[in-house]
Amino acid sequence: MISKEQLSEILKNFNDPDLNTSFTELNFLKSYSINGDKLKIDLFVSDENNPSLQKLSEEIGKKVISEFPDFSEININFNCGVVEHIDKKKSSVLPGIKNTIAVASGKGGVGKSTAAVNLAVSLAKLGYKTGIIDADIYGPSIPTMFDIKEKPKIKSVNGKNKLVPVTKYDVEVMSIGFLIEGNNAVVWRGPMASSALKQFMGEVVWSELDFLIFDMPPGTGDIQLTLSQTIPLTGAIIVTTPQEISLIDAKKGFSMFEKVNVQTIGIIENMSYYNLPDGSIDYIFGKDGGKNMCDELGIPLLGQIPINKKIREGGDLGKPVSIFEPDSLEAKIYSEIAKRTVNLINQRNIKSNKSPGLEIKL
Ligand SMILES: Nc1ncnc2c1ncn2[C@@H]1O[C@H](COP(=O)(O)OP(=O)(O)OP(=O)(O)O)[C@@H](O)[C@H]1O
Ligand SMILES: [Mg+2]
Repeated sequence: MISKEQLSEILKNFNDPDLNTSFTELNFLKSYSINGDKLKIDLFVSDENNPSLQKLSEEIGKKVISEFPDFSEININFNCGVVEHIDKKKSSVLPGIKNTIAVASGKGGVGKSTAAVNLAVSLAKLGYKTGIIDADIYGPSIPTMFDIKEKPKIKSVNGKNKLVPVTKYDVEVMSIGFLIEGNNAVVWRGPMASSALKQFMGEVVWSELDFLIFDMPPGTGDIQLTLSQTIPLTGAIIVTTPQEISLIDAKKGFSMFEKVNVQTIGIIENMSYYNLPDGSIDYIFGKDGGKNMCDELGIPLLGQIPINKKIREGGDLGKPVSIFEPDSLEAKIYSEIAKRTVNLINQRNIKSNKSPGLEIKL
């Protein structure tokens, strides 16, 4: 009745509304099925809440029927899809991983790991294949935040022993902490840290993933710079609190990524406010500091997360609020941040995949 090629030919005329690129060029035709005179098409889209999708769906339907009048009904489903970051270094170091994101900050203790964990589980909840790797060689907190006590399994691949990430909450998890006995402190120097991470990245067998999130160590010194160069990054997310002292360091983080040609996808403002029991709001660390920084630097604000006991407890117990309190305001904010991240990464990839010459490879 209609072949995949014929359908792709039609979809060349229709663009993803956010990416201004055709569904065919994006490889966004997920699947289709025919039932009598009914055609069902599953398309990926950058933002499934884009208000123009209804109209787009009608237009695609009309076009299909005009060319294939035997169909009487066309149903189109839109699901969020991912554009792959095309990068030689990434495909050699991390084959099968479509995008890599560093969650970083300048200042320590601002909530990077908490944000990274909730972002990862929110992406997984939205249906994206997601992994997280703890690149924090000083104090890996991912095993605690996921409540993982077991060690990764070893699997032989082409005669070499590789580590299999532990899967929890639908996220593939790997941490340097899995390999450190007890509370042994690790003292790393820059080159050592980077070669350990390189080796570590090369020795893990991930599934095919849409997103691999790197929880970075705090700071903007040599080690962080080396790590940012070592990991083939699609982009960085910077976490900051709204207070001046954190913002100064967040700006340093932004500059560090600029230096190594990694785009900052956006900023997460954490501990933005506290909801008091009487309904009023306390801006403990000041109001909108992260938001204002975004305006100043011309980068997107991914979201503002309140200070909340549930978030802290979720971290300590390894029960992320995004999973265990799915209807809470906090879970919804993390989910919005995840959606925004996907959309921004798609836009970044379309731009750089269309003009690869402009991207400076390291
Ligand atoms: N929005 C929040 N509300 C309440 N507590 C939070 C929030 N975000 C983070 N925390 C808590 O703050 C502490 C520091 O968070 P986290 O470990 O995520 O920071 P970090 O930036 O990764 O720290 P480090 O620099 O040491 O890696 C943790 O106890 C965490 O549970
Ligand atoms: Mg951390």
